[in-house]
Formats: sequence, C-alpha cells, structure tokens
Amino acid sequence: MFLFLAGVRLMEDRVVAVKVVNFTKRFGNFTAVNGLNLEIYDREIFGFLGPNGSGKTTTLLTIATVYKPTSGDIFVYGHSVTREDYEVRKLVGLAFQDPKALWVDKVQELLEWHARVVGFSRGEAKKVVREVLETLDLWEHRNKYFYQLSGGTRKKLELAKVLIQRPRLAILDEPTAQVDVPTKHKLWNIIKELRDQGSTVIIATNDMFEAEKVCERVGIIYKGRLVAVDTVSGLKDRIPKGDVIEIVIEGDGRKDKAIESLMDLGRVEYQGNTLRIYVEKGEEKALLAADILRSAGIKVKSIMVKEPTLDDVFMYFTGARLVEES
Ligand SMILES: Nc1ncnc2c1ncn2[C@@H]1O[C@H](COP(=O)(O)OP(=O)(O)OP(=O)(O)O)[C@@H](O)[C@H]1O
Ligand SMILES: [Mg+2]
Repeated sequence: MFLFLAGVRLMEDRVVAVKVVNFTKRFGNFTAVNGLNLEIYDREIFGFLGPNGSGKTTTLLTIATVYKPTSGDIFVYGHSVTREDYEVRKLVGLAFQDPKALWVDKVQELLEWHARVVGFSRGEAKKVVREVLETLDLWEHRNKYFYQLSGGTRKKLELAKVLIQRPRLAILDEPTAQVDVPTKHKLWNIIKELRDQGSTVIIATNDMFEAEKVCERVGIIYKGRLVAVDTVSGLKDRIPKGDVIEIVIEGDGRKDKAIESLMDLGRVEYQGNTLRIYVEKGEEKALLAADILRSAGIKVKSIMVKEPTLDDVFMYFTGARLVEES
C-alpha cells in the first residue's frame, strides 16, 4: 500500500519538461498539426511515433522554436516558445531529420565550431569533440568533408552535436534513420546514457521497434492528431484481446474439461496438443492458465505468451482512426 501511494506521489511530483497546449500548426490552408495537448516529463525519453507526414517534425521544430505555432502554445520548462523563444533556445539541442552543412565543412572542424557556440573553451571543445567522435565511431571520418559522408554517418554527426551540447532538452528527429542495425543498437544505448546524465529526450520515429527499445512513453501521432499516449506495453494492453497464450500440453485425456475452465480467461482454440487463449494482459493470465491446467491434472509441456506485433499496435490506433474519420 505504501509503495502504491509512493508511486502515485512520484507521478504527481514529476517535473513537466514540455507542456503542449492546444498546439496547431498550419502551412497555408493545410493543417499539419491539429490541437495537440501533451505533457512530457523531465528526464524521460518520449517518442513521437507516426507514419510519414503525420506531423512529427513539425511538432519537434516548433518545440525547438524553429517554427511558431499557428495557435496554442508550447512551454519548455515553463518558457513559452511564442513569447520567450530566446530562453527556450538556451535549453534545447536539436538533431535535424535531414542534416545539412556547407560543402566546405569538415567533420571535426564543424563540431569544434559547434562546441564553441554552445560554450566550450577552445581547449575543452577539442577534448569533447574527440570524445564524442570516438563514442560514435566517427574519429576515422574526422577530416572528411560533409558531402563525402554516407547518409548514416551524417545522421551520427547530427547526433554528435547534441551529445556535445548535452542540453536540458534533447530533440532527436529520427536519430537512427539510415543507420545500420548494429549501429542502431549502439545509438539507442547512447541516447539512454544522454538521459541518464540529465537530459530529457524527445525523439521522432516511425520505427515501432525503436520506440519500444528506447522510449518510456510514446505518443502516436497520425494526420496531425495525437491518437494515443502511453508506454509501449500500455499501448499493447489497450488492444482488445491483444495477447496470445500458447500452451502445449501432454496427452489430451481431460482436455475438454480444462478448456471449459480456460474459457473464463478468453477465447480458446486448440489444435492437437496446442491450446491458444486470446486475452488481454497475457503474462498475468498465463499464470492463471497454468494453475487451471495443473488442478485439472493436465501436464504442461510449454507455455508462451505472444504479444501482438508492433505493427498490430500501430494499425489498431491509426486504422481505428481511419474508420472513424470515414
Ligand atoms: N514548410 C512546410 N510547408 C508546407 N507544408 C509542410 C511544411 N512542413 C511540413 N509540411 C507538411 O506537414 C505535414 C507534416 O509534415 P512533417 O514533416 O511534420 O511530418 P513527419 O511526421 O515528420 O513525416 P516524416 O516521417 O516523413 O518525417 C506533411 O503533410 C508536410 O508535407
Ligand atoms: Mg519528419
């Protein structure tokens, strides 16, 4: 009970890093983001997840003061992006979706210049740039011109800027797009370390796997609207009958009786010695299912909870929206 109350209290006490209030952004007649309301907490990794054109970049760029809201406002640690953009810029570091630099820019020089801009002395700048280049396996590319870099390396260079800055609020727009799979895993760990060392992190992604790997909470954004905000596991649990418990039993002597009892948990299907139960919160119900079978004298060979696929989650939320709209 105490722990439960302490947990609630912690939730209430969480410092709000970003408060989005009725944020709408139009480009001409086109509404890119429509009436967004959301709170992102201090030192969490929050992900905006959505398909192409859903409004992720528009939202991130507005939080970073590159765009101004058409209506509504966004507060970064209490500072309004519309009225105190100068204050907000001191708190924010941004890695763009499409990194850009001049063709004459070389990796190390570019980052040292960036380090000086964010406040390092000349000596410190050299040191921090070397550290970050080594962390990201970019040291060997340090003397290359920007135009000579591969797409994935450009993305790492963009992330390097934020790692040098270590801002209070790090905004990373599709940080691992174009990056190979082993490097993605490495970058996810680096992003977690960035948070562990004190930054709040917001990322945009259209990769559910990435969202699950790094984000504590995810906002699904679709056609400019926020359709759901939760942890990835919370989102999965919101799919009705989202999990499948798959049980292989030994023999099938008293199977019928057991199936009857299992039907209290959810829809049961069986094929030979394999039972499948369609439920919500599969992990909890798997234990119940095992108990039910044991008391019916049926031996369980194996039991496995399968989650809905990440695509199922996305389809559920965005697909449901499409049906509603039509
Ligand atoms: N400067 C602009 N002028 C006009 N329309 C824009 C502008 N920027 C974005 N849009 C439109 O707003 C919508 C949202 O774009 P946004 O870049 O925010 O999407 P996104 O979710 O980041 O997509 P992606 O996954 O492709 O990066 C798109 O339809 C886009 O064409
Ligand atoms: Mg984008």
